Amino acid sequence: MGNKVPSREEAYELLLKYNKSESLIHHALAVEAVMLHFAEKLGGEEDVEKWGIIGLVHDLDYEMYPDEHCKMTEKILREENWPEDYIRAIVSHGWKICTDVEPVETMEKVLYTIDELTGLINATALMRPTGISDMKVKSLKKKWKDKSFAAGVDREIIREGSEMLDMDLNEIMEETITAMREVSEEIGL
Ligand SMILES: [Fe+2]
Repeated sequence: MGNKVPSREEAYELLLKYNKSESLIHHALAVEAVMLHFAEKLGGEEDVEKWGIIGLVHDLDYEMYPDEHCKMTEKILREENWPEDYIRAIVSHGWKICTDVEPVETMEKVLYTIDELTGLINATALMRPTGISDMKVKSLKKKWKDKSFAAGVDREIIREGSEMLDMDLNEIMEETITAMREVSEEIGL
């Protein structure tokens, strides 16, 4: 059982060690920002840094080991002596896709829900002349309904996640846009 509590700095170094793709690094930073935002809303004070770190490294293995997604992250973080609850949370974001570990904790449910949602918001912002700066839930919803737009984004996962969280989808969208807007420069929007 790992007992090292990783710092944000260590997590970021690890991210850059395994990820060279700008779009994946942008995605990691977007998910980190959204996790921080939701931690402040739904978690305890002690959770904020932890949720952010988990968001930052959730796709750690995806660039180098796409066929072993989640499994390699689990292996790497165990070797790095990370705590089991961090590892479990990260692995559970691939529930039904690359793992049978189900999101149970609120932190896990948030990660599960917003991972795909940040992808949809990113794609929507890139289509807009004003980017994310004045994006409204209404325009995101339009893109949500257009199944041919960003077809790789699994809307069903997002919907299922919002049910797990027992939160209104519009509210989750609003909060996620707000969190991403705060780091728009860092994530290339
Ligand atoms: Fe992701």
